[in-house]
Amino acid sequence: MIKAITGTKDILPSDIRKWYHLENLVRKIFQNFNYKEIRTPIFEETSLFARGIGEETDIVSKEMYTFRDRSDTSITLKPEMTAGVVRAFIEHSLGEKQPLTKVFYISPMFRQERPQAGRLRQFHQFGAEALGSTSPLLDAEMIEMAFEILTRLGLNDLSVKINSLGIPSARENYKNELRKYLSDKKDKLTEESRIRFEKNILRIFDSKAEQDQEIMKNAPLLIDYLDDESKQDFEVVKKYLTDLNIPFEVDPKLVRGLDYYTKTTFEIISGKVGAQSSLCGGGRYDLLVEELGGKPTPGVGFAAGMERILLACENENVLNLPEPYIDVYLVRIDSDLMLKVSEIASSLRKNDLIVDYDYLNRSVKAQMRDANKMNARFVLFVGGDEFRNGELLVKNLSTSEQEKIKVSELSSLINKIKMYGS
Ligand code: HAM
Repeated sequence: MIKAITGTKDILPSDIRKWYHLENLVRKIFQNFNYKEIRTPIFEETSLFARGIGEETDIVSKEMYTFRDRSDTSITLKPEMTAGVVRAFIEHSLGEKQPLTKVFYISPMFRQERPQAGRLRQFHQFGAEALGSTSPLLDAEMIEMAFEILTRLGLNDLSVKINSLGIPSARENYKNELRKYLSDKKDKLTEESRIRFEKNILRIFDSKAEQDQEIMKNAPLLIDYLDDESKQDFEVVKKYLTDLNIPFEVDPKLVRGLDYYTKTTFEIISGKVGAQSSLCGGGRYDLLVEELGGKPTPGVGFAAGMERILLACENENVLNLPEPYIDVYLVRIDSDLMLKVSEIASSLRKNDLIVDYDYLNRSVKAQMRDANKMNARFVLFVGGDEFRNGELLVKNLSTSEQEKIKVSELSSLINKIKMYGS
């Protein structure tokens, strides 16, 4: 039997309402902040991600789904959206149409990581990007939008961590300090961190190994080496978050796994999803547009993992949606009335009622069972003496009240059912 590829997951009809709920909420919140949706292709030229995210990052060096297509172009399934959004921004000169471009997205992403709870190879992100302003109010707005979505879902066990990575020159000075600090301790680091020492020294802070953490405990911190502008912007972000009553903590060791960040970075962590606890992450990337060939344009954004968020909801026992229901189930009493049933169903459906009936030629008893299983609000019996008199029997399944209506007066029934639902 052929099974789904490791690290991919079917979203079955029984799960889909949670996805709809989350997607609707995401669209609503982003629209409240006047972000417009953008959809970019699932695959892009590999060099976009290599240049955008950084050759030495785990994503680019180990996790991308890269292949050559029939014309020998190196193609990669998108591991994240920011690079693709920036490519589209440059390609369509969006910055010339308006000074500030605010976009959001909901899309599958692909990373060949080791699968575990909350970590998949095909997963979904929603996120937002704002291009064209250096205002730290936008940094805070990103955190505000992410926090708003998570709290509206009912999540409680959240912590917002923020940091500033400064501008590259300040970061280079700091990296030299870090190199100095580690130079006589390097041999005690894990092999992975020794490699990072050479290639991407900041990421040593991400190591979970105790021996690394012990050494990094006393390491100099980037936040103490920030340039004045980054420092000031960081103060504004903190002030705005405080004014918005969003609890946060400064985590000077938050370095993030993508190379494009400058100044503010942040993550929102859930205490309820185990090892893969980061629900969302983002930050400012003031140099990325230029690095990808566009006019210098500052940017800031974030992305959130939807599977992780839904896992957090499950573990916090929130997002308990009401049972699904249908408005009307048509019970066919006489077997020769199949066409009549489908005709009535059709006119009810045209009026936006959720309607179903039996397609399997089942008995009236079995049809009633079906109606209950589907949580039907009303059952409409088609057939019997009533039907011969031009009438239908309607039963409200929650009150068991019954009434007869004329087949010719279906519209009054439709109104009644609509009122019932509202
Ligand atoms: P990221 O931190 O790589 O950032 O991913 C954002 C979120 O995607 C993570 O916090 C996590 O919830 C989810 N995620 C990442 N990898 C997986 C996985 N293998 N399985 C399930 N969920 C996963 C970015 O992608 C940046 N583009 C965010 C950004 C936008 N920065 C600026 N703008």
